[in-house]
Amino acid sequence: DLTPRPEDKFSFGLWTVGWQGVDVFGPASRPALDPVEAVHRLADLGAAAVTFHDDDLLPDETTRQATLDRFTKALADTGLHTEMVTTNLFGHPVFKEGALTANNREVRRYALSKVLRNIDLAASLGAETFVMWGGREGAEHGAGKNVRSALDRMVEAIDIACDYVREQGYTMRFALEPKPNEPRGDILLPTIGHALALIGELEHPEMVGLNPEVGHEEMAGLNFAHGIAQALWHGKLFHLDLNGQHGPRFDQDLRFGAGNLRGAFWTVDAMLGSGTGTGYDGYVHFDYKPPRAEAADGVWDSARSCMRNYLLLRERVRAFRADAEVQAALEAAGVAALDQPTLGAGEDLADVRGAAYDLETLGARSVALEALDQLALEHLLGAR
Ligand code: GCO
Ligand code: MN
Ligand code: MN
Ligand code: MN
Repeated sequence: DLTPRPEDKFSFGLWTVGWQGVDVFGPASRPALDPVEAVHRLADLGAAAVTFHDDDLLPDETTRQATLDRFTKALADTGLHTEMVTTNLFGHPVFKEGALTANNREVRRYALSKVLRNIDLAASLGAETFVMWGGREGAEHGAGKNVRSALDRMVEAIDIACDYVREQGYTMRFALEPKPNEPRGDILLPTIGHALALIGELEHPEMVGLNPEVGHEEMAGLNFAHGIAQALWHGKLFHLDLNGQHGPRFDQDLRFGAGNLRGAFWTVDAMLGSGTGTGYDGYVHFDYKPPRAEAADGVWDSARSCMRNYLLLRERVRAFRADAEVQAALEAAGVAALDQPTLGAGEDLADVRGAAYDLETLGARSVALEALDQLALEHLLGAR
């Protein structure tokens, strides 16, 4: 069934459908979207939740409480939930040289105060996840940023945020979002791997995981399905941003399924647990931008398509995994044999070092991977 339902846990950022099309070559091509309208439209389309940056929803102090009241009423009226909140630490010119890792200490302190205030807001709305994307945490030049000091300040800020959540008795978890570049020339924590390594240096690593984005890994030429599989293996896939990207170029933020469609198939497969093992059970969150060329109709078409493409791919992936020929092909490829430890119980290294290996036969063996992959493609193409 391809109808999006609340139990599918689809979620959208207010900044996605609300993107007005401002780019480096031109101003907005669409009018501002009222967050209340976004909530109603997304609910009508079958989404379960929304997410936002502080400034998406509450751009100024004077209207803050009134907007919050209208927004929470819209949530109550539709049954939508705020599952994730994140902080805009990139828009204002004060963050031009970084936020939590700016060289300027006043800027860092202001950024931290903005994060702490936003954590209170996230808690008041019951958000389970607090995303930290450091879009301006980076550099264009060599000597102008001491990377090791910047990482010290990043860890300091995350530790403070974790302590604050614990002290307040909140239950939310943090999710770091890696990105290699854009808006900075080079951003700190550029990939899933870099971010995972940083988590190991934190005071409360159990409170911090990842929010990987399809396009961001693919901008770096990396395999997103492998990236989230590793994040799952570490128990760190707290959230994710689904979208589409055509290889290493600017951040395209296409609707999910556009761009690298084959990658999207394996992404859904990884989310579902890759046939075995535990999958991802969090919100299926879309972080995309309806292309600037579209008017309002195209915005809602693209939002609908994100969910529909996920459901189509989920159907294809399930059919692939359930296919008896696929199971035989997996068997022929020896995929399950990898679950067996390389050293058997009670064996020692002498058993490995002293054995005779028939390199001729091993070198010539069939791995049967093309046949397996072709079955996946046939499922993806709707040929099976
Ligand atoms: C981007 C990022 C953002 C973040 C968002 C959450 O490339 O613009 O993906 O969309 O996901 O700011 O903090
Ligand atoms: Mn992106
Ligand atoms: Mn993005
Ligand atoms: Mn994102």
